[in-house]
Amino acid sequence: DQEWKADEESRSKSTLSYIFKEAEWILDRSVQAVKHNWKEKDRFDKIKDEIGVSLKEFSERNSKSMILKLLLVFAAILFFVRSLSMYFQQIIFKQIEEKVIMFIRNDFYGALLKKPLEFFHSHKLGEIISRAVNDVKMIRGMTLNSATNLLRNLLLVTVYVIMMVTVSVRMSFMTLFVVIPISVTVSLISSALKRRSRKVQQKFADITSIIQETIMNIRIVLSFAMGNYEKARFLKENRKFYKKSVHMVRASQLVTPFTEFMSIMITLVIIWYGGLLVLNPNNAMSAGKFSLFLVALLASLHPIKEIARVYSQINKGLAAAERVFEIIDEPVLLVDKGDAKSIDVFSDSIVFENMSFKYPSSDIVLRDINLTIKKGEAVAFVGPSGGGKSTMMDLLLRFYDPTSGSIKIDNVDMRDYKMDDIRNLMGMVTQEVILFDDTVTHNISYGRQDASKEDIVQAAEAANAHEFILELEDGYDTIIGERGVKLSGGQKQRIAIARAILKNPQILIFDEATSSLDGESEYQVQEAIYRLMKDRTTLIIAHRLSTIRNCSKIVVIDKGIIAEQGSHEELIEQDNLYKKLYSIQFRDFSENDNN
Ligand SMILES: Nc1ncnc2c1ncn2[C@@H]1O[C@H](COP(=O)(O)OP(=O)(O)O)[C@@H](O)[C@H]1O
Ligand SMILES: [Mg+2]
Repeated sequence: DQEWKADEESRSKSTLSYIFKEAEWILDRSVQAVKHNWKEKDRFDKIKDEIGVSLKEFSERNSKSMILKLLLVFAAILFFVRSLSMYFQQIIFKQIEEKVIMFIRNDFYGALLKKPLEFFHSHKLGEIISRAVNDVKMIRGMTLNSATNLLRNLLLVTVYVIMMVTVSVRMSFMTLFVVIPISVTVSLISSALKRRSRKVQQKFADITSIIQETIMNIRIVLSFAMGNYEKARFLKENRKFYKKSVHMVRASQLVTPFTEFMSIMITLVIIWYGGLLVLNPNNAMSAGKFSLFLVALLASLHPIKEIARVYSQINKGLAAAERVFEIIDEPVLLVDKGDAKSIDVFSDSIVFENMSFKYPSSDIVLRDINLTIKKGEAVAFVGPSGGGKSTMMDLLLRFYDPTSGSIKIDNVDMRDYKMDDIRNLMGMVTQEVILFDDTVTHNISYGRQDASKEDIVQAAEAANAHEFILELEDGYDTIIGERGVKLSGGQKQRIAIARAILKNPQILIFDEATSSLDGESEYQVQEAIYRLMKDRTTLIIAHRLSTIRNCSKIVVIDKGIIAEQGSHEELIEQDNLYKKLYSIQFRDFSENDNN
């Protein structure tokens, strides 16, 4: 089937395979058409005979000038048909080409969605987009059109070579001596072209990244009056891009003049050598044979030039294809096991067991974590920033796997469950709220496409968001997000909480969900959170300790280890880090009160 399916698992992935797939389909069709026509052979023979008879009668009946006119008209029709079929051939080729491009782009996007979170930390956004758009487009140069062009010209060259060899083996050898160094040179130029083309594509990705980064951070750029600095940075990179492009053009434009010049040289050498043979008093070669050889040689020059041109073009495409398939083919380490278990209901506990973790690019971040969270508990995570709290939550969502030890849910290692099941159990609200460029309704019902209007309103009410949503211009149909209405931090936060409420997850995670809010919004959001916590397992990372009074257990994370855990009263009694953090904040509060 021609359609790409998102869940289609293992497709063999190389540009050639995409092309072959299409070509196979066409070949199949052609073979069938030929087979079909073969069956009708008898009928064709009959028709042929009939035509022959009528032509004879026709020529007997008409004058010579009439026949000439008719022949010309016939020729005109023939050429018209030829042009028409060329047009359709091109359309078919282009269609296949576009289809190959579409499949590759689909696979690229599909592959992106399967990448682990780490992938998006280690690749710049502009780089990824540039590969998906620009490099994929470059692959065009090496698809079917080039392949057929190559094939046609190879065939022509073969025919001419056979002609030449038949005429004179000696002179053919002579030609070969000149052709070999040319081929070697052309292939050297082509591989240089491939290298340079790759660099151009990389530079293009770099400047795409700068544009993207500047736009994303435009507030900072403007407020720090860094416009000129960013401009200078861009001009510098763009100049590098220009230089690399010129560098590449030098190689790519070298191919045609080089082959042109060398073919003239071959011709001259052959005329010289052949001329000597013809002029030889022993009559080593006849003038007629020599002319025939020369004609074949000259005729072969154009296809040879074409081969060189297409070959270098294909090399340019290969450079882009490598960049695209690097991303598609990069193995995904975080995948479901073949026999992954389902989990619909969280019924007992989450247990971190001697769990340690480091990011691929970092030192150890969490060390020997042992922690049990019972179903229905509300647990707070506190501690200095950089301690590893957010990382623990990311591990719970299986954005990463532990480096050693394990995390068990209901006594089963998380890695044995289906990843989507785990993520369906959990709902996370973070400090940084991500809204899609869509209506309020769609933003709230993200992940619950089936939700009814009533469900959505109920969730918004529970999140203390309903009222301000009604005050927006189009209420629930207002477009918010990147290009839509801008919401305040507290409003965004409440939309995110409504989203979490609607998802109705069994395990709720708040990662500093209220730290960026002012007192009033924080109160509103906090109230929504408390409402949500009932009958659920809740993990709250809190910056302000005033917000975690309702938690039955407090875990203090410091420098990657659990420094303390217990109830508020127990930890105050222990008189350690928690007490210190608490009194610092308490002092802040009293100072604020005094002001
Ligand atoms: N994607 C990442 N790659 C490498 N190191 C990271 C990454 N994310 C966080 N870290 C590091 O891990 C440590 C813990 O970070 P984090 O879990 O965000 O702490 P917290 O949430 O307690 O402030 C920090 O030292 C941080 O620099
Ligand atoms: Mg954090």
